[in-house]
Amino acid sequence: MATNPSWTLRSYPTAMPTPDNWALDDRPMPEAGEGELLVKTLWLSVDPYMRGRISSAKSYAAGFKIGDLMRGGGVGEVIASGSPEFQPGQIVVSDYFGWQPFTVISAATAKIVTITDAPIQAALSYLGMPGLTAYFALLKTAAPKSGETVLISAASGAVGQIAGQIARIKGLDPVAVVGTDEKLAWCRELGYRTGVNHRTSPDLIADVAAACPDGVDVFIDNTAGPIHDAGMLNLNTFGRVVIVGTIALADRFDHPDIGLRHLRRTLITRARIEGFLLDDHEREYQTATTELLAWYKQGQLHTREDVAEGIESAPHAFVRMLKGENFGKQLVKL
Ligand SMILES: NC(=O)c1ccc[n+]([C@@H]2O[C@H](COP(=O)([O-])OP(=O)(O)OC[C@H]3O[C@@H](n4cnc5c(N)ncnc54)[C@H](OP(=O)(O)O)[C@@H]3O)[C@@H](O)[C@H]2O)c1
Repeated sequence: MATNPSWTLRSYPTAMPTPDNWALDDRPMPEAGEGELLVKTLWLSVDPYMRGRISSAKSYAAGFKIGDLMRGGGVGEVIASGSPEFQPGQIVVSDYFGWQPFTVISAATAKIVTITDAPIQAALSYLGMPGLTAYFALLKTAAPKSGETVLISAASGAVGQIAGQIARIKGLDPVAVVGTDEKLAWCRELGYRTGVNHRTSPDLIADVAAACPDGVDVFIDNTAGPIHDAGMLNLNTFGRVVIVGTIALADRFDHPDIGLRHLRRTLITRARIEGFLLDDHEREYQTATTELLAWYKQGQLHTREDVAEGIESAPHAFVRMLKGENFGKQLVKL
């Protein structure tokens, strides 16, 4: 019988996850039923939102139970189809790939990856969830005006590297917050004017102020924590703060992070603070993907991937990304 090494959730982490939170089980080759696809996994995406799925805390989507097969974004080749809309040989992307070499997904969650000039794994980065997040969080939710200063945290990552470049393309003034000097150098290459290393900064509030001498008009916050406080304390009148992610809480996910109370600051600046969820923009995905692909083909979008090899590396790749050890979009190649 063909085997299919698959990652099962073994325990909920109480602090920063470790690879021991999963176990590698040998499962039989799955079969596609009606409305399902059997897919050979080519790429897996490990994303910060999965931290919320391996917790019993309430979130915007149901999490995994102990003993569940771990699932997340992936790109693969259809081997057998139980749906008339898909044929063997097609490349598909879905948010529900098992962490396993052969996986069964519901056809309703799959989209055909149209072969473009971009590599297929771009469907998991700049032409997929992170790229679309950057696009809508910046252009739609923040709605910036030309020349405004845009502070972006986790600026060299999957979302941040695209958000900074869209800001540059749109004539904005992007400023990065990153965790290493190498990441800051890369952000400058992408078109960020300047930035701050939050892991070495002795005074994040002062360093953000120095990097943004005219203040912060738009804050794309991917992290929460002390970076959030520094952005808020440098916010301009009528500033817009988009809460995209809270990765700084990955090691204390189940505990509330109150931080500074910004009520007075919000009153003084009349700022708008809005939570962001990509799913709310689904009807406009096609428009955004077309524009992102056009920028990519014109050489206006550059991206960096951090690729782990083999199904065995999936939990390790996820944890290193949560710790900030990734440099660019973290992927697993099978
Ligand atoms: N709301 C939505 O619909 C949506 C969709 C997609 C992504 N997101 C969110 O967007 C954010 C970025 O996601 P991504 O896929 O682009 O990840 P990423 O930036 O590629 O990787 C995560 C990065 O977070 C930074 N980080 C880790 N721990 C940190 C800490 N304690 N303080 C500050 N920064 C820390 C690290 O960068 P440094 O080394 O630079 O610190 C790390 O490289 C995440 O919060 C994610 O949940 C939200």
